[in-house]
Amino acid sequence: MKIHRLNLNSRIGLLTAVLLAMGATARSGDTLTLKDAFKDHFYVGAAINRTIATGTAVRADNVNRTSEQVNKDIALVKEQFNQTSPENDLKWALIHPRPGADGYNFGPADAYVDFGVSHNMYIVGHTLVWHGQTPNWVFQGTNLPPGVADAPSPATAAATNMAGTNMPGGRRFGRGFGGGFSGPRASREELLQRMRDHIHTVVARYKGKIKAWDVVNEAIADGGTNILRNSLWLEIIGPDFIAKAFEYAHEADPDANLRYNDYGLENPAKRRKLIALIKSLQEQHVPVMAIGSQTHVNVSSPSFEAEDQALTEMETLGLPIHITELDVNGAQGGQRSSSADISNNAATTQGGLVDDANRKLADAYAGLFRAFVKHDKSVKLVTFWGVNDRVSWRAQGRPLLFDGNDQPKPAFEAVIRAAKGEQPNPR
Ligand code: GLA
Repeated sequence: MKIHRLNLNSRIGLLTAVLLAMGATARSGDTLTLKDAFKDHFYVGAAINRTIATGTAVRADNVNRTSEQVNKDIALVKEQFNQTSPENDLKWALIHPRPGADGYNFGPADAYVDFGVSHNMYIVGHTLVWHGQTPNWVFQGTNLPPGVADAPSPATAAATNMAGTNMPGGRRFGRGFGGGFSGPRASREELLQRMRDHIHTVVARYKGKIKAWDVVNEAIADGGTNILRNSLWLEIIGPDFIAKAFEYAHEADPDANLRYNDYGLENPAKRRKLIALIKSLQEQHVPVMAIGSQTHVNVSSPSFEAEDQALTEMETLGLPIHITELDVNGAQGGQRSSSADISNNAATTQGGLVDDANRKLADAYAGLFRAFVKHDKSVKLVTFWGVNDRVSWRAQGRPLLFDGNDQPKPAFEAVIRAAKGEQPNPR
């Protein structure tokens, strides 16, 4: 086909492709940014990876961006967001990979905090105590795990477990990042001491800069009747590991906003457990100051009504609610599994029509933001888990407002309309 015979649609398509290739923005000058659209309601933020925090095309967090792409990502973050969270670099395995005072790796975390300070953002720390992405040494000691009769010598066990292989009789806690330790364990006192040292060191380093901390992440069990999930924190310390973590964080920075953070709170049964847990912490005067609802959801659920209900119930606790890790998987049934493993969560839109997927995503986001705005007396912050679809942990589900070229998708417009109290775009 000769070029002059292209019909109008093809010519528009061609022009768009050329503009995108040139890096031109599709946002018109008078389009509101997210942070401005919601400035009377809540902070709007994004989790950033190491490439953005350091401004370099390093290969990190499963992200592979060129320098040019990183610069565009940074420009987008500065333009749209007034809050930021670290996708990985403040997790224990990254900031404190080895025992001892010199076992810390502060470089990437410092870069993250400097990024937030220099762009005048509300900076979040994520996360202090979690069953995932925590190195084996944290739990290691000389006490045999329950049910292990003939353990190998501590030296053999240590070598085995640092290689990530389970011992006989051992169990795994959380798949994915670093949850496989089952060798001889620390005592309660040793683990509390390690937890306290870690929390004091990390929180104190960023005191006054990091304004809110996810002190404990994902302690609630998904199914069954137990409130707490099985983890080495629970097995070794006991259920008061949560209270202790909050106490230590409060000692280290009395002004920091301390959050309990979890996923699946759209599910009524899990939400009941959250409410029971937080009430019990409040009765014990534990300094838990905000609820973090991750909100890794999908296009089919929750509806506006379901999210409205979830927020109504959670706000009975009398605490601010932070939407801490928002993304909407573009595939049906792509709800977050119990694993943080990317490959387990990459449900896809492949095979679907892109326009249809975009419309469903826009509708889902519109419903969520209508609910957030309705509850803005308690919803104080909304963080997207990633900047654009390409760098998302659920990249194949295209779960965010911006595509891999940092161009806004229809969901972006839908969210802006929700800020203005307008209904979704008529079709
Ligand atoms: C959980 C954690 C986040 C992140 C996601 C998956 O939600 O809180 O830090 O690891 O899983 O990327």
